[in-house]
Amino acid sequence: MTFASPRRCSDDLSTLLEDIRQAADSPADKALSLPPAAYTNRELLELEREAIFRRDWVAIGRVDEIAKPGDYMTAQIDHTPVLAARQKDGSIRVFANVCTHRAMELVEGRGSARRFTCRYHAWTFGLNGDLIAAPAMAEGFCKSGKGLTELRHEVALGFLFVSLNDNPTSLSERLAPLAERVSPYQVERMRTLRKDTLFWDCTWKVAVENGIEPYHITATHPQTLAPFAPVRNVDMEGTADGYHAYNHHYDDEQQAPQSPYYIPNTSGNNAIRKHAVAGCIYPNMAFSIALDWMWWITCQPVDTNKVRVDHGVCGPFDFKGEAPDLTDTDLFFLNVDTAFMPEDVPRVEGVQRGMESGFARQSELSPLEGTIHGFIQNYHKMLQSVV
Ligand code: FES
Ligand SMILES: [Fe+2]
Repeated sequence: MTFASPRRCSDDLSTLLEDIRQAADSPADKALSLPPAAYTNRELLELEREAIFRRDWVAIGRVDEIAKPGDYMTAQIDHTPVLAARQKDGSIRVFANVCTHRAMELVEGRGSARRFTCRYHAWTFGLNGDLIAAPAMAEGFCKSGKGLTELRHEVALGFLFVSLNDNPTSLSERLAPLAERVSPYQVERMRTLRKDTLFWDCTWKVAVENGIEPYHITATHPQTLAPFAPVRNVDMEGTADGYHAYNHHYDDEQQAPQSPYYIPNTSGNNAIRKHAVAGCIYPNMAFSIALDWMWWITCQPVDTNKVRVDHGVCGPFDFKGEAPDLTDTDLFFLNVDTAFMPEDVPRVEGVQRGMESGFARQSELSPLEGTIHGFIQNYHKMLQSVV
């Protein structure tokens, strides 16, 4: 038996960055987890905000959430409130959701509108962001140039990605291999059936890592997720520059449960009934696609030990959700927040407490955590872009 005192979490950022580099550079067959201090260090969190969340692409939802002209939705990226609106011509524009008068957050929630009127002093903006009314301003006040600040956006796989960077790298190029990989599932045609925001007591990286690895499914979700995502037949696709996926292979008697709303596969490739695809879209999204369903989460830092989790469930485009047609699969996906997410929350919050204990160690990862290794490599690359 050996005894030890708790180790002080490194608060030296340069030492911590070197430890992170070693984890990123570790060979795939001896891949290392991040050092514990990476889950607790406040200075590192500020660096992540600058290097990742204010620089890279973050998904804020699905384009089908704003299908018709006038439809809008709001979201948050880092500390920035964001507003996405479907234009009269069918295009999408995304703005900082910040009134140009005295910075009130302009719009809340989602809905449909012809214009946006600030609740503070009633400045009014068109769908295209132009300032169209500013009551009781001095004579000669000029509305021109006082419209909402537009943000970069791209659509990939039916997701609406937004970047706070005015010159981000191309996302669709980066995700082209994944789009091709999952094209038989026709995720662009899926419909958003639910979307929620949750807050968990852990750092954002613990939440992402939990969402992207199949290693924990057997022990953590034996009755819920395991029957849909058998881990005994999993292979990794290898790290790609933009995503890292793995496949669940169903054996003969256990193919992907089929919904009555199954979208006929126009390519004639019914191989999708034999596999589910899951993984990570860098920097902060986990996704899981099984037949005609998709579940996704994005994780953003609120604090060193608090994460904002936006998650959505997408199903067949003609899904009506009417009993008695609902299958076990339908019910499972429609109720992810009660089906298996409550099993994850105590795990991720328990990991965070362990990371903060002073007794956490950097560990070797299982081959079933290969997606975490890919996540760490991309994470390190992003940090390097600003140090
Ligand atoms: S802050 Fe919006 S109108 Fe004044
Ligand atoms: Fe889980």
